[in-house]
Amino acid sequence: MKISLVAAIAENNAIGKDNKLLWHLSNDLKFFKNYTLGKVILMGRKTFESIGKRALPGRINAVISRDHTLQAENILVFKTLEAALAHFKNVEEVCIVGGAQLYKDTLPIAHRLVLTRVATSPEADVFFPELNWNDWKMVSEEMHLADEKHLYDYTFQVFERKD
Ligand SMILES: NC(=O)c1ccc[n+]([C@@H]2O[C@H](COP(=O)([O-])OP(=O)(O)OC[C@H]3O[C@@H](n4cnc5c(N)ncnc54)[C@H](OP(=O)(O)O)[C@@H]3O)[C@@H](O)[C@H]2O)c1
Repeated sequence: MKISLVAAIAENNAIGKDNKLLWHLSNDLKFFKNYTLGKVILMGRKTFESIGKRALPGRINAVISRDHTLQAENILVFKTLEAALAHFKNVEEVCIVGGAQLYKDTLPIAHRLVLTRVATSPEADVFFPELNWNDWKMVSEEMHLADEKHLYDYTFQVFERKD
């Protein structure tokens, strides 16, 4: 099983505020959809709440929460990260889609980072964890300038952990 962290990150590592995203970038939503379609997406309970407590179509949706009562249509709920990863051990790729807590817990075991680097430094209350860039090799990069649909410049980058 390959573990990929999929995240949109500001220049100051900000990823969210008040349990919401910090921007609306339609191409990033498309990129996220294209990358995750047909795969497992694993998220923390707060991220699940932030996307409306619903499953994103075309993907296996899994949520981590210690709340035994949490349930929703087409959502698998696990009490621990370990239980979730054990369940998906034979799956090709698990996409960790946030939030900050889950990124922090999975960064040490991640194989791939699928990042959207957003050219802004907003005020935020959740941040992507600090990482050692020397551990990572960039395998693709695609830059985009701001336009009428995108308030900020943004760059899609994929990194693989160095051997
Ligand atoms: N920019 C981006 O790409 C991106 C992506 C996703 C989310 N976000 C943002 O991130 C914010 C949410 O992140 P967050 O850090 O506050 O919350 P989160 O990681 O989404 O959820 C935290 C909750 O998930 C459960 N959880 C997470 N890791 C666990 C573990 N290892 N073991 C057991 N339970 C675990 C716990 O739920 P219980 O308390 O129920 O036990 C915990 O309280 C929002 O602002 C959202 O918009 C940004």
